[in-house]
Amino acid sequence: MSKKLLILPGDGIGPEIVAEAVKVISVLQIDFGLGVEIEQAMVGGKAYDAQGHPLPETTLQLARQSDAVLLGAVGGPQYESLPRELRPERGLLGLRSEMGLFSNLRPAILYPQLADSSTLKPEIVSGLDIMIVRELTGGIYFGRPRGIRELEGGEREGFNTLVYRESEIERIVRSACDIAMKRSARLCSVDKANVLEVSELWREVASRVAKDYPGVEMSHMYVDNAAMQLVRAPKQFDVVVTSNMFGDILSDAAAMLTGSIGMLPSASLDAGGKGMYEPIHGSAPDIADKGIANPLATILSVVMMLRYSLQRPELAQRLEQSVEYVLDEGLRTPDIHTKGTERVSTSQMGDAVAMRLQSLAN
Ligand code: IPM
Ligand code: MG
Repeated sequence: MSKKLLILPGDGIGPEIVAEAVKVISVLQIDFGLGVEIEQAMVGGKAYDAQGHPLPETTLQLARQSDAVLLGAVGGPQYESLPRELRPERGLLGLRSEMGLFSNLRPAILYPQLADSSTLKPEIVSGLDIMIVRELTGGIYFGRPRGIRELEGGEREGFNTLVYRESEIERIVRSACDIAMKRSARLCSVDKANVLEVSELWREVASRVAKDYPGVEMSHMYVDNAAMQLVRAPKQFDVVVTSNMFGDILSDAAAMLTGSIGMLPSASLDAGGKGMYEPIHGSAPDIADKGIANPLATILSVVMMLRYSLQRPELAQRLEQSVEYVLDEGLRTPDIHTKGTERVSTSQMGDAVAMRLQSLAN
């Protein structure tokens, strides 16, 4: 039975970067016989504008029936005054939660061709290859109670709940251990156990789970120190496992080590290998429709999709090689452009990758 792929372009630069990924997927379909069934639907602000909700029931149904979802980005300033439940981000958070995508893999890899694009010294970041494993369906993002309430006297108070059950900690740490086993087997669990009870439990469960993986060398670090170490000596890390909000913050920091957030893909997986794939950058409304967005994070998300949900590692490798080839050629969107390289537009970058990929089919 052929696998099903749902494409959700979303808002801001979402549609333009996804269009480039679609070019690449067409080559995979036509020249490599990928053979997936493709549907497209609306999510985020676009879905709110057209259907009154950031995650319409039809979109959710299609997502549930898919093996893989490719998402651009959601959000925009025009939606900021909407009630929280109708904001574009709810579409994304709803998909993560409804599809049970608890394991979020965010690799931060520095392509040698881009060593000069990082704001850190080349010797600090060259050869960087970190995998951040972020818990994605729990913690303070979803904990209840939450809200803004009025106190006696009229002052308002905002509140959220940071909560993790043992089973939630256990499954994300297991998924990180599995990944660590395939890499250098060094796993750093990041928490705030010196202050938070949730973190105390996190650390205890993480250590217990690690005992089942004698090959994995687990260490623990407080999140403030981890943020500092990431910019001080990032190569000390291999796999990092952490909670939803800490992972959100640390993965943006890790992204910048690599030169541009426009280069980094992500995979969000359920327990059975279904996944949603998206660039880790946002909808960047300020640069939308200018043809300057970098489509490589989305194209590299297709690489992860081929590996994790479509079980086509050989195609993943070809596509990754094609991206490296165009970087070798010196093609750069403005976010990664440096002296001596060739500045190209969003669609020129996509065309170049698709053409290279096509040439590998023959
Ligand atoms: C991310 C984003 C999202 C998050 C937003 C858009 C809700 O920052 O995927 O990292 O906070 O998870
Ligand atoms: Mg984020």
